[in-house]
Amino acid sequence: MVFLSNAISNARIEESHSKGELHHDAVETTIYGTRWASEDIPRFDLPEDEMPSNVAYRLIKDDLAFSWDNHIPSSHLFQNRCVNMIARLYHAPMHSAEEEALGCSTVGSSEAIILATLAMKRRWQNARKEKGLPTDKPNLILGANCQVAWHKAIEYLEIEAREVECTEDCLCMDPKKAVDLVDENTIGICAILGSTYTGHYEDVKTLNTLLEEKNQENGWDVGIHVDAASGGFVAPFTVPELEWDFRCSRVVSINVSGHKYGMTYAGVGWCIWRGPEYLPKSLVFNINYLGSDQASFTLNFSKGAAHVIAQYYVLIRLGKSGFKKIMSNLTATADHLADRLKATGRFEIMSEGQGRGLPLVAFRLKDEHHYNEFDISSKLRERGWIVPAYTMAPNVEHIKMLRVVVREDFSRSRCEILVKDIIAALRALDASDREAVAKRREHIEEHSHSSIYSNSVNPKPKTTGTESESTEDSKTAQGIC
Ligand SMILES: Cc1ncc(COP(=O)(O)O)c(C=O)c1O
Repeated sequence: MVFLSNAISNARIEESHSKGELHHDAVETTIYGTRWASEDIPRFDLPEDEMPSNVAYRLIKDDLAFSWDNHIPSSHLFQNRCVNMIARLYHAPMHSAEEEALGCSTVGSSEAIILATLAMKRRWQNARKEKGLPTDKPNLILGANCQVAWHKAIEYLEIEAREVECTEDCLCMDPKKAVDLVDENTIGICAILGSTYTGHYEDVKTLNTLLEEKNQENGWDVGIHVDAASGGFVAPFTVPELEWDFRCSRVVSINVSGHKYGMTYAGVGWCIWRGPEYLPKSLVFNINYLGSDQASFTLNFSKGAAHVIAQYYVLIRLGKSGFKKIMSNLTATADHLADRLKATGRFEIMSEGQGRGLPLVAFRLKDEHHYNEFDISSKLRERGWIVPAYTMAPNVEHIKMLRVVVREDFSRSRCEILVKDIIAALRALDASDREAVAKRREHIEEHSHSSIYSNSVNPKPKTTGTESESTEDSKTAQGIC
């Protein structure tokens, strides 16, 4: 194949440089001839600008060789830098040595959530013990729309869950209802930045104000943990003015997944604490048998460093401007998809647009039909799309939804193909009758490894005579991922 290329004039290169655009292949010679080689590699703050991929790669490679020469474990080095950058991105107060944030890498948000919950519980216990008060009834407040990781944390750490029910008008946690549930045994409140069901950002600022008041009235010290598994790498770039992070005085810890909008491969997450007082020392293990003094707060000890290095690569490669461009594109694509689905006249959009929620589209059928959202999902699978259908959280589980999560590789042209396939699925289902839809469900139930209808059509799990019917044996926590 022959490509016709433009040779770019000096005038055009200078013009685009003055606009902050980069034409590396046209103007740079070697990596060590670039401006980045003469600057310190970013260590504390997410860089403002993007860096070419080969430069980021080489700077990290050289740093890795250096760290091993000096017996500094590379995971340690790069983790420190990532934690610094993420803490600053979340406006952690860092005015003096006493106010420094701290954090760790985890396998994902689930581990981060368990660690953060453990820290909240231990801190509450320590404070109660000091006052000679009982510590046997800790509770945590969260929306019923929480992800299953929270059910695990609560169950594993033996904490009472106080769930704020969702309603048809509010599919995420109402801050007032949450604060009403706080008492002296509350270890914290979890707010979600990007509800898994609908992508809504919960109102952390209002929650913060109400909680501050209640704490002051009662002399309590209840904090907020923000589960920013998905939103933590979106909101800072699409809605930087939204105050959901350490700008809110009661936010004590935040988790984020690197493998969602942090754009690394599966297996990395982050937990950041506002300051050392929020992570009790008794939970941190200090070791020196890896060649240097290290503090460990993880569930698993040994872990590969590759994910952490990959996260650092993405952070310095993209910088704030790269993240902003990608997240703005994803938001625009999600808005476009929502508009196209609305224009069919068949769907109601359940998610927030224009950057006020995650770049996803949650939608449901407007009217009653002889088929439902699960049938549309299964029809789309025939064309290779996995668009999950699911029921909402307890109390509003009668609401069924479909959800398209717009990720980096979901371009506008793919979006158009999806819209066409959704319309084709609707036409095929419209043309079928009730009996054909029922037969198809039966067939899928019988032949699939895990049924996509188990929530909607056949809510009661089948039990054989030998199986225990006790709910103690297996947890049937609501939740989607
Ligand atoms: C809000 C929320 N919290 C926690 C998790 C769990 O994250 P991870 O898969 O990184 O453990 C998810 C995953 O989808 C999520 O959406």
